[in-house]
Amino acid sequence: MTRPRRFYIETWGCQMNELDSQRMAGQLMQQGILPTREVEEADIILLNSCSVREKAEQKVYSRLGEYRLLKRGKGDLLIGLCGCVAQQEGERALERVPDLDFVLGPARVGELQDVVARRRAGERVVATGFPESRQYDIDAVSRHGEHKGMVTIIEGCNKNCTFCIVPKTRGPERSRPMADILGEVRHLLDYGFQEIELLGQTVNHWREPGGDWDFADLLDRVARMPGLRRLRFITSYPRDFTPRMVEQVGRHANIAPYLHLPVQSGSDRVLRRMGRGYTRNEYLDLVGQLRRARTDLALSTDIIVGFPGEAEEDFAQTLELVREVRFAVVYAFKYSPRPGTAAPRLDGAIPAEIADERLQRLFALQEGIQREINVGLVGKDFEVIVTGWGKQPGTQTGRTPCHRVIHFETGPEPVSLGGTTTVRVETAFAYSLVGRRLEAPALAHS
Ligand code: 5AD
Repeated sequence: MTRPRRFYIETWGCQMNELDSQRMAGQLMQQGILPTREVEEADIILLNSCSVREKAEQKVYSRLGEYRLLKRGKGDLLIGLCGCVAQQEGERALERVPDLDFVLGPARVGELQDVVARRRAGERVVATGFPESRQYDIDAVSRHGEHKGMVTIIEGCNKNCTFCIVPKTRGPERSRPMADILGEVRHLLDYGFQEIELLGQTVNHWREPGGDWDFADLLDRVARMPGLRRLRFITSYPRDFTPRMVEQVGRHANIAPYLHLPVQSGSDRVLRRMGRGYTRNEYLDLVGQLRRARTDLALSTDIIVGFPGEAEEDFAQTLELVREVRFAVVYAFKYSPRPGTAAPRLDGAIPAEIADERLQRLFALQEGIQREINVGLVGKDFEVIVTGWGKQPGTQTGRTPCHRVIHFETGPEPVSLGGTTTVRVETAFAYSLVGRRLEAPALAHS
């Protein structure tokens, strides 16, 4: 009997990459190629890369170097570079890595089967760029082992923030028609997902192609779909959040009271140099509107420290904003110059030690705030969607509606992945909660 062929995918970066990996896995599985957890077992290795910061990009070539070694004595092993570094490097990646078989950009994910076939026929393929027509088969997505169904509603980005490489790697903005989105969500709910996550680099900038509907209309339609317990969307662009959208967040209980709203900086001067198109006060005003609409709302954010020209007083304003908003989570990054973006040409480069020190101060401040907020949740009950097994035997892990990680003992009957249970918070840490499952059946032998 011949051994089935196997693939291995390594995924870095954002939710879009995660979904792209699910799409690539699905296409390979449709051809009878099976996943493996052991890279040495693989006949196809895909590295789904991220280039949002320089470090991730640098790691790509060292990882490809490691994979190359596996080709020794295994002549038909294929190695593909996918994701944002693929788009950025294109042909260059084939030149730099002689054993690399193909390069597949994010807008070409739907062509994987074809690219693999062309490679098997002898061609080293570079499939990058942003074709007008793209392949997307909702049945060719491997969602096995997932607790939520992710659905792309808008691809690419037109914002051109001066620090960001995404418009170059994911291309110009393209919204998917509402009918396609609703069809895919329906498909996922029928399959049994209770949580749906709508994806887009600027998810709230979605518009019906050639029509009038905007993201508020889409949210309303999706939230009304029977069987949908938890609706999330990522990432919202602050300037694109309209009062109608705020109203929808307030209206539908199944829209998760959790929002990722990147602020990037608390200083107007820095925001202007970043090209963000909003001021600190406009951001704070939006936060106020959202919290009035939804009193239980948890917010998370992204912050860049050490952006060119960021003076100590600019950074102090960022700390002040963090104190004022009291985010549930802050993802903070040291500024990293990216090729083809405008910011590296700005004056006022910040020395690495200063940026590092600011990052540490920000983390320390946020950790204290997070612990305080989480301690305030002790004694409260939450509906938890189960995301996996805990590290301790007999425990599971899930997410509260406000997206906090919570660990709990399963009791005699564990909850299935993606299922829900009610958990009472008993202990709080800065980064997680521990609780007791409430409706677990009584222990059989107690
Ligand atoms: N340097 C550092 N952080 C960056 N981000 C995007 N581009 C850069 C960069 N050049 C951060 C932003 C964004 C998050 C996904 O990554 O905070 O919101």
